[in-house]
Amino acid sequence: MEYTYEQYQESARALADRLGGFRPRVLLILGSGLGSLGEAVADPIAVPYDQVPHMKRSTAPDHAGRFVFGRLAGREVAVMQGRLHTYEGWSFEDVTYPVRVLRLLGAETLVVTNAAGAVNTAFSAGDIMLITDHIKLFGMSPLRGPNLDEFGPRFPDVSHVYTPALQAVARQTAAELSIPLREGVYMFFPGPQYETPAEVRAARALGADAVGMSTVPEAIVAAHCGMAVLGFTLCTNMAAGVLDQPLSSDEVLAAAAEAGPRFAALVKGCLSRL
Ligand code: HPA
Repeated sequence: MEYTYEQYQESARALADRLGGFRPRVLLILGSGLGSLGEAVADPIAVPYDQVPHMKRSTAPDHAGRFVFGRLAGREVAVMQGRLHTYEGWSFEDVTYPVRVLRLLGAETLVVTNAAGAVNTAFSAGDIMLITDHIKLFGMSPLRGPNLDEFGPRFPDVSHVYTPALQAVARQTAAELSIPLREGVYMFFPGPQYETPAEVRAARALGADAVGMSTVPEAIVAAHCGMAVLGFTLCTNMAAGVLDQPLSSDEVLAAAAEAGPRFAALVKGCLSRL
């Protein structure tokens, strides 16, 4: 379903009413297993998604389904504890709805994280990858339908969705914190089934380093409305067929839990340098 500009405004007003004078500068979307960063927010104001007009619920496992507004690493943030995915049945417009709402509230930057399978055989489970670009060949664009000129142009340039200056911040932060940082291309798959080994080989041939079921719709919509974007992937597992073992969501969550402190330190370090 498409939304009108007035609907986004209505949601932004509803959130502004809850926030008093507080205005978030950064929207932080947390992926599978990484939601605990939301607990580190100082002076938190939690708003469940179902209290935001027009917004859909998050049904994915380990996704709390709420905003936490407050300060993290000295920055005014809106943390999404739990994102929306198309595999839950939501449209790309539903999934990206909160990005535009937060833009109207004044957020200038999107920091987006996810769990994904490593396609690049030089990577290992547990590696953190800085997203330098993405591939989205599946499904329609989240920008399909009447263009809302208030947000951005009909045919946006997507040469630099992942803001080069923020990539530089991430590299510098990782080096200072001695956190190993991979870099690469994230390819969107719709899920909820994991990819087949043949799909993973196809993704590799196309230039992907990791495959996952999120992030790209939100990044496209954020770039369209002029937000800077920084994206991180936690490679929770080697993608299907790389190793001779089946994939499981338990493995994904266990790897996310193991990497959680490292990941949180990196994200907070980047936030403090924004
Ligand atoms: N594929 C897609 N999404 C994922 C994976 C994967 O291998 N691991 C965690 N999320």
